[in-house]
Amino acid sequence: MYGFSFDLSTVLVFLTTFLFSLLCVHSRSESERGSKRHEKMPPGPRGLPVFGNLLSLGTNPHLTFVEMAKQFGSVFTIRIGSEPIVVLNGYKAVKDTLIAKSLLFAGRPKMPLTEELTKGKGIVTADYGDTWKTQRKFTLKTLKEYGMGRPAMEKNITKEMECLTKAFSEKKLQPFEVDKYLQVSIANIVCSVTFGSRYEYGDPQLLTLLHLIDRFCEIGPASTMVNFFPFLKHVPFGPVKEVFTNNEIMTQYVNSVIRQHGETIDYNRLRDFIDAYMDEIRKQNNNDTNKETSFNEEYLFYLLNDLFFAGTETMSVTLRWGLLYMIAFPDIQKKVQDEIDAVVGADRLPSLADKPHLPYTEAAMLEIQRMANITALTFPHKTLDDVQLYDHVIPKDTTVFVNLYSVHVDETQFPEPDKFDPGRFLNENGRVKQNPALLAFSAGRRRCPGEELATSELFLFFTGLLQRFSFQNPPGSPQPTLEKVFGISLVPHPYKVVAVPRSGDIPAH
Ligand code: HEM
Repeated sequence: MYGFSFDLSTVLVFLTTFLFSLLCVHSRSESERGSKRHEKMPPGPRGLPVFGNLLSLGTNPHLTFVEMAKQFGSVFTIRIGSEPIVVLNGYKAVKDTLIAKSLLFAGRPKMPLTEELTKGKGIVTADYGDTWKTQRKFTLKTLKEYGMGRPAMEKNITKEMECLTKAFSEKKLQPFEVDKYLQVSIANIVCSVTFGSRYEYGDPQLLTLLHLIDRFCEIGPASTMVNFFPFLKHVPFGPVKEVFTNNEIMTQYVNSVIRQHGETIDYNRLRDFIDAYMDEIRKQNNNDTNKETSFNEEYLFYLLNDLFFAGTETMSVTLRWGLLYMIAFPDIQKKVQDEIDAVVGADRLPSLADKPHLPYTEAAMLEIQRMANITALTFPHKTLDDVQLYDHVIPKDTTVFVNLYSVHVDETQFPEPDKFDPGRFLNENGRVKQNPALLAFSAGRRRCPGEELATSELFLFFTGLLQRFSFQNPPGSPQPTLEKVFGISLVPHPYKVVAVPRSGDIPAH
C-alpha cells in the first residue's frame, strides 16, 4: 500500500545530492551495525555503501522481493541507506508473524516523511498504543453509525449508481476512461459520511483533491526515500517537495471543512463523522476524571485525511481492476451477469441481502482482489520487541515490509497463481470457499479496519454496474494489458471501455 520505489526524478535528486549525502546521511554508527543486536537477523543481499540495496530494488520491488526470497528464504533483510529492513514473503512467513505474533509486529516505524505529513497521528501511521486503539475503535463505530453500514450505505450507493448510469449512458457507446467517474462516486460515499456532503463529477474542489491523491500515489513511493535519506527534505525540487506542497493544499481544504462544521454544529442534531467527533471532544473535556484525552481537532484532521485517502484510492482502484478483468474475460463477465439476472433481475438494484445468493459473483470479486494486488506492500510495520523467528532474531524497533503480493502468488495456496479463475473460490457445491491466504486487507492487529465496509461497498458497486452495463474493449483496440503500474498501490495502465446498457432506467431499491 505504502511501499517505495525510485524513478528518474529520484535518481536525479540522488546524483545531485550524493556528495552531500556522504556527509549528512543519518546513518547508524558502524559499531551499532555490527553489534550483537543485529547479528542473528535474517540473511539478505549485500548492499552498496550509502545506498544499501536501494538500487537493486527496481521499479517493482514486490517482484524483486519474490526473486530475493528464492535466494535468501521467505524472511530476509535488506538495507536502504543504513536502515536494516526485514521483508516477509509468502503465506507461511506472513502467517507466522502478522497472525501468530500479531502484537509483536503491530508497530509503525517513525519516519521523517510520516512525521512531516501526519506527525504519527491518525490511524495508518500511528504507532501501536492506547491512542491508536481508542481512535481506531471510535472511527470504525462512528463510520458505521453515519452511513457506512447498511442500510444507509445502500441508499448512498443507489444515488451514486443513478449518477454513474446517467454518465455512462450519455457516452452513447463511445469509448471512455472510467477512472474519474469511479473515483468521484467512491469519494462521495466517504465524503457523505465524514463531511456530510457529496460532489458532482465536475466539482473543481473534489477534482483537485482527487488529483492530489493521484499525484501522491504516483510520486509517493519516490518521496519515501526521505525516510532513509532525511537530507532530501531540504531539496527544493523533486517528489519530496511536491508531496509537501500538495499536503499543504489538502490541509487547507480539510481544515476549512472542520472550521465550517465548528461554526454550524448543533450538538442535538449531529450530521456526520466530524460532528460526532466534535461531540466526543466536548464530552471528553467535560469529563470530571482528569484523564488525558487524545480527542482534539488536530487528531480529527489526521483521521479525516486517513479516511479520505484509505477509503477512496483503494476502492476505486479495485473497481477499475474489476471492470478491466471483466473486459479481458468476457465469458466470466457473462456468467456474473447471468447470475445477477437470475437472482436479482432487472427491476431493482442488487442489495447486500442478495450476496449469499450470488456465489459466482462473490468468487469473481475475490479473484479480482487476489490478482489485482492493489496493496502489494502494506504500510511498513515495526517490531515492538525482539522476536525469535525460525533461526533468527529480529530486534525490537526493526522496520518490516510485508509483501502481500507474494502471498497471493504463493503456489502452495493458489495453484497456477497467474491464472484468473474465480472457480478457485468455489467449493464442489458451488458455494463460496474462503481461502485464509487471501490477504488483500492484510492480517493481524493492523488489518484494514475498513474491510467489512469496503467489501460491502465493492459488492454493491460491482454488481450494480454489471447489472446495468456490459463492459467491452473498444472495437479495433488491442486487448488492454493486465500489467500493473507500481505506486502507492498497484494500478492498471490507463484503458478505455465501451459501456453497453443492458436495460432501461435505473431500478429503485
Ligand atoms: C478495497 C479496499 C481496501 C483495501 C484493499 C484495503 C487494504 C488495506 C491494507 C492492506 C492496509 C494495511 C494493513 C497493514 O499495514 O498491514 C489497510 C489499512 C487501513 N485501511 Fe484499508 N483497505 C481498503 C479500504 C479501506 C476503507 C474503505 C477504509 C476506511 C473507510 C480503510 C481504512 C484503513 C485504515 C484506517 C488503515 C490503517 C489501519 C491501521 O494501521 O491500524 N481501508 N487497508
